[in-house]
Amino acid sequence: MRKEILKTLIENTDKYISGEDISQRFGVSRTAVWKAIKQLKEQGYEIESISRKGYKLIERSNEFNADELGIDIKSDHHTYHFICKKSVDSTSSELKRRANDNADEWTIVIAEEQSDGRGRLGRHWVSKPGEGIYMSLLLKPDIQPYHAAKITQITASAVTLAIREITALPALIKWPNDIVVNGKKVCGILTEMTAELNQINYVILGIGINVNGSEFDEEIKEKATSLMKASSHQIAVDRKEILKSFYKHFDVLYRNFLSDPSTQESIDICRRYSAIIGGNVQMIRRGISQDVTVIDITNDGELLVRHTDGSEEVVISGEVSIRRGDQYI
Ligand code: BTN
Repeated sequence: MRKEILKTLIENTDKYISGEDISQRFGVSRTAVWKAIKQLKEQGYEIESISRKGYKLIERSNEFNADELGIDIKSDHHTYHFICKKSVDSTSSELKRRANDNADEWTIVIAEEQSDGRGRLGRHWVSKPGEGIYMSLLLKPDIQPYHAAKITQITASAVTLAIREITALPALIKWPNDIVVNGKKVCGILTEMTAELNQINYVILGIGINVNGSEFDEEIKEKATSLMKASSHQIAVDRKEILKSFYKHFDVLYRNFLSDPSTQESIDICRRYSAIIGGNVQMIRRGISQDVTVIDITNDGELLVRHTDGSEEVVISGEVSIRRGDQYI
C-alpha cells in the first residue's frame, strides 16, 4: 500500500492530493494513509501535509528505495526485485547468500555503503555512504558457460551508454570491466558465476560506480575519479537517473544476447568506446609486465594484442590487468 501511495504522490508531484482521495482510491482508512505517509517521510521523502488540502510530494529521498525503484524501473520481459540496504558487507556477498537460498532471477541488492566491498583480483572496493552506486544483480541465463564472459561486456556497454546519456561525459571502456573518464576509473564490474560443466547456476554481476565522491583515499586518488569530479560544472549527478538508464540499456542488450549469444552488439559498443584499442599498454599477468599493442577485441570478447616481437596473442579476461605508463590508462 505504501508503494501505491508513493506512486500516486509521484504521479501528482507538485499537486496536493487529499487524504480522503487516497483512502478512497485504495480502500483504506485515513489513519492507514497517515501512517504510510509517516513511513515515507522517515525514508527521506519530503512530503508537505496541509489540513483540508492534503499531501504534496516536495522532494524524493536521495537514498535508494525499493518501492520507488520498482515504480521507475520496469521491463516488459521480467520483474525486478529491488532490495535496498543502508549498509551491507558487500552487495555481491549478500546476493550470493540470497541466491544460495533460491532468490529469484533479477533480484538486485543495492546499498548506500559497503563495509567489505570486493573488487577484482581480491582487491577492496571503497564504498563510502551515498557517494556511489553499489549494486549486484542476479541472473540465471540458460546459455553455455563459455558465453558468460560476454555478460561483463554487456554490463560495461550499458554503464557506458548510461553515463554518456545522463552526464554527457566521454566514458570509455577499459577492457574488460572498467569504465574510465579522462583516464581515471569511475566504474568497476565484478562478474561471479557458479556453473556446472555445461550449465550456469547463476551469475552475480557486481557493479560499483563512483558517482558523487569528492575525496579519494591516497592509494587510489591518482587512478580514480567520480562522475561529479570529472564533470566541468561539479554538480552532483542523480544516481537514480544513472540506474534507470543503465537498466534501459542492459535490458535490450541482454535480451538480444540471450536470443543470440553470438551477437556482436555489445562487443561493437566495447570497440567503439574502447579506451585501449590501438594503444601501447602494459599487460600485467601474474605480476609480470609486458609491453603490448592492443589490436582489437575479438568477436568472443577477448583481447587481441601484439607483442614487441610481432607475435599476436588472444588474452582472456580475468587473467590480466592493463596499465599505460604510470597512468591508470
Ligand atoms: C573492480 O573494478 O575490481 C570491480 C569492482 C566491483 C565493485 C562492486 S560494488 C558492488 C558489488 N559489491 C561488491 O562487493 N563489489 C561489487
